Amino acid sequence: MGGMIVKNILSIDDLANDEISAVLDNAARIKREGVRGTELAGRIAALLFFEPSTRTRLSFASAAQRLGMGVIGFDDPALSGAAKGESLTDTVRVVQSYAELIVLRHPRAGAAHEAAGVAAVPLVNGGDGGREHPTQTLYDLFTVRERFGRLDGLRVGFYGDLRFGRAANSLALALSRFGAELTWIAPADLQPAEEVVAAVHGRGVPTARAEEPAEVLPGLDVLYVSRPQRERWPAGLAPELPPVTRALLRRASEDLLVLHPLPRTGELAVDVDADPRAGYFQQVANGVPVRMAVLRQLLSG
Ligand code: NCD
Repeated sequence: MGGMIVKNILSIDDLANDEISAVLDNAARIKREGVRGTELAGRIAALLFFEPSTRTRLSFASAAQRLGMGVIGFDDPALSGAAKGESLTDTVRVVQSYAELIVLRHPRAGAAHEAAGVAAVPLVNGGDGGREHPTQTLYDLFTVRERFGRLDGLRVGFYGDLRFGRAANSLALALSRFGAELTWIAPADLQPAEEVVAAVHGRGVPTARAEEPAEVLPGLDVLYVSRPQRERWPAGLAPELPPVTRALLRRASEDLLVLHPLPRTGELAVDVDADPRAGYFQQVANGVPVRMAVLRQLLSG
């Protein structure tokens, strides 16, 4: 796996297809065989979270510690220098002398790119506003590949807030490079931004649109549900996202895989949990070996 030149992961498009496959293969090996818990001993990961997080922050901390790393950072910018008016770039310039790698989550689209511009250590985008969340995508891809053994030719439906949701954006960008067919299922106000649609179309994959899952469910292999990102909605926007329920899944293939980056709100009913097609808790568990593989990739060799 040597020869990696990628230093930052800001967008899923920073990784070539073979680099993504290498991360997934490495994560599969970690999941199967485990790793020596001292591999990255002596290194420190800084987790800078300017927005709420459970999974991204805790699974990166878990992944780092399982490789022997130390972890520093903050999860409440009100308790950091930002509360005194310190800029993001100054914060990053300071923290890079405390750590070998930075994971940043920030409410502003483009914040990770700005931070990486001044960082002398690898920087991972843990979510920048509504734009991207590349390491979420890596474990989404991992979970799909684990289940189907491939990514190409799969018919993937995205349902939820596709305009303001970064997890769906990054995954659509990635899947379109691996030859999946995408269907965007959302009310008009929550259909994906034009730049995402244009990027996906530029890759030549078939896409379709629908307003409700019921219309397209029978033809899907994967249904990727995501929550309304109300914290990013402009005033006056109030679209409805009726829940995906177990009853609705009667129309779907027996082999459907239902994913969700979590947290869920009302868009994915709890009764789906008992359905064997529910894959989201397995998906979240895959976040740890995948993030271990990411840390290895960025810090080894
Ligand atoms: C996602 C995020 O923060 O974008 N959460 C996560 O990292 N699993 C999804 C979301 O908040 O809806």
